[in-house]
Amino acid sequence: MHDQSPLRAETWPMSRTCPFSPPPDYAALRERPGLPRVTGPSGRTVFVAARHEDVRAVLGDARLSSDRSHPDFPWMRVGETVFPGFRPSLIAMDPPEHGPARRAVAGEFTTRRMRELHPKVQRIVDGLLDDVLAGAEPVDLVSALAVPMAGLVLCELLGIPTSDRQEFTTDTTVLIAHDSADADRAESFRSLTAYFDALCATKMTERPEDLLGRLAGHQLFSGGESRWAMVELCVLLAVAGLETTATMTALGILALLEHPDQLALLTADPDLTPAVVEELLRFFSVAELSLVRRATADIEIAGTLVRTGEGVAALSAAANRDPAAFADPDTFDVTRDNRRHLAFGWGPHQCLGANLARLELGIVLGTLFRRIPTLRLATPRDELRYVNGSGFSVSALPVTW
Ligand code: HEM
Repeated sequence: MHDQSPLRAETWPMSRTCPFSPPPDYAALRERPGLPRVTGPSGRTVFVAARHEDVRAVLGDARLSSDRSHPDFPWMRVGETVFPGFRPSLIAMDPPEHGPARRAVAGEFTTRRMRELHPKVQRIVDGLLDDVLAGAEPVDLVSALAVPMAGLVLCELLGIPTSDRQEFTTDTTVLIAHDSADADRAESFRSLTAYFDALCATKMTERPEDLLGRLAGHQLFSGGESRWAMVELCVLLAVAGLETTATMTALGILALLEHPDQLALLTADPDLTPAVVEELLRFFSVAELSLVRRATADIEIAGTLVRTGEGVAALSAAANRDPAAFADPDTFDVTRDNRRHLAFGWGPHQCLGANLARLELGIVLGTLFRRIPTLRLATPRDELRYVNGSGFSVSALPVTW
């Protein structure tokens, strides 16, 4: 068994030095035997899994808990520390609670449901691009396209009436912004949960033919205190579905603009769109900071003993660049076989909204480059502002055409 006393003063999360590469130390972490240890954000050490097979082993092991409300949980996402007492749905649940709750919602993300959403997502993207084309250049595609698209799609998914969409967008934008003050974030959270509480009450009475209307009829969500369970689910869907998809949209546009040979393949053959989306997901792996677990038993992973109570972080961005899983992994190649990527996680908590994210990214990227084939950056890539360290994204993407 490997001795994994902390080797160096490495802290995690680590920053990227290039928008198209994971933090440089990830390659060295992948080379170390067993699971290396690093210092996590709370000052506590955590094990990290960096190889593809080890990340899968971590995420597939039911003895590793996702319960972020446990006092020893190695790390909470920034927002969660601001709202003590609030328990995110699904993503923070363990067995036996997690399975039934996930099954109750899974039917809302089937291929059939996505087919129903397709024309609505297309309408949202077309409307936003109409505005982009009617406005003055340069246009910031983060605020004019990526964020509003992800927000409006969530409004469709949750059945939020048109009259409430501005309030929803304002609250969620503050909630997910990396530079929001804690007090502002707390206020947006309070406003959003109050809004969802009222919305869920209406859905329980009216039972419309939409996601919340259908869930209101489910035994896990019907009646009494279970309305709060619906509110917690709404918050999870809003937060999990917004930042990730908006970030991937912006980074996807950036990557395609900076790899014109790959963009040419897409514009020449729109049937390549799903493969482009998968390669972008692999290439950026934007949601890896959610992949943290706490051991509920002494377990051995990759020859390392992880004791009860210790934390493990699964580095999906390192796994998705593991040469043992992907040939020439640092090359952005939309024609590669990338089916094994772990950008949506793995195992029981694998992203429930993956099909929706794929739908949105396919529509927005396909439509953008079809309607504006001469699109180009208005600011050089190195001068763009990035959120780096506690998550990774680009703050603004000024473009012209
Ligand atoms: C590109 C966009 C997205 C990425 C990269 C992404 C990534 C992830 C990852 C890595 C997880 C696993 C977390 C864990 O194991 O702890 C996850 C879970 C989840 N995601 Fe996504 N996500 C995306 C979009 C969405 C969307 C659009 C929705 C829905 C509106 C969504 C809903 C969820 C939910 C409900 C879970 C929790 C599943 C569970 O715990 O059973 N995600 N996502």
